[in-house]
This record gives sequence, C-alpha cells and structure tokens, in this order.
Amino acid sequence: MNIFEALRHDHDKQRSLVDALIKTSGDSQNRQSLMNELKHELEEHAKFEERFFYNPLMCDDLTQEKARHSVAEHHDIDELIEALEHTDMSSPAWLAKAKKLHHIVHHHLEEEEQEVFQLAGKALTENQKQLLADKYNNAMH
Ligand SMILES: [Fe+2]
Ligand SMILES: [Fe+2]
Repeated sequence: MNIFEALRHDHDKQRSLVDALIKTSGDSQNRQSLMNELKHELEEHAKFEERFFYNPLMCDDLTQEKARHSVAEHHDIDELIEALEHTDMSSPAWLAKAKKLHHIVHHHLEEEEQEVFQLAGKALTENQKQLLADKYNNAMH
C-alpha cells in the first residue's frame, strides 16, 4: 500500500460519517455518537496526515504551497467542530453548521485527492510513498 491508498481509505470513512451526520435529527443518541466518531476520525487523520504526508511535502518547492493550504483547511475544520460543540444539538443552527462541515470536509478531501496527490506523486519517491504509508497506518490503526 502507498500513502495515497492509505489516506484515501480513511477519506472514504470520513465521507460516510459526515454524510450520515447530516441525516440525523435532534439531540439524539445517533447524532451524538456519529459526531464523536467523526470528530475523532478527523482529528487523528489530520494529525498524522500532517506528520507523515504534509511534513515531507513542505520541504519540496513543488508541493509546499498546497501543503500549507491543506493545513490551513485542517484548522478551519477544527474551528467548525468547536463551533458545533458550542451549539445546542437540538437547534436548527446545529444542522446548519453540520451542513457547513459536510461541505468543507468533502471539498477538502476532493482537493487533496485531485490536486495534492497529483503533485505529491511527483515530489515523493516510490520508496517514500510506501514508507510513509506504513508510518501513517501504524499511527492511525
Ligand atoms: Fe487533510
Ligand atoms: Fe486527508
């Protein structure tokens, strides 16, 4: 497995969690547990993606700008999660914020897969792609 396959695997998990989240209603058990799971997934993924993927990409002129942009989006996602946590789960405002999160998560994953992976494919060696996947998977799973 290379780093792209490893990251894409977890992106798919995030997509299904965030899709399910906006179909929940009210202050329900289902909404609470999906939110907890999604938060955990997003935070762990961002942490290890930054460590084992974006760190090496910061060192290459070809990928530095994209890496910075993606890390900034991780912060935007963090802030939205925090805003959700400070909003009453049974209010319409909560669902409005959850839909914003849905939008930004899908946008972020698509940008990584379409644009970042493309450039990173050129910046990293085949050996690095395997090694980084091992490190990422070990930390994540
Ligand atoms: Fe990311
Ligand atoms: Fe990612």
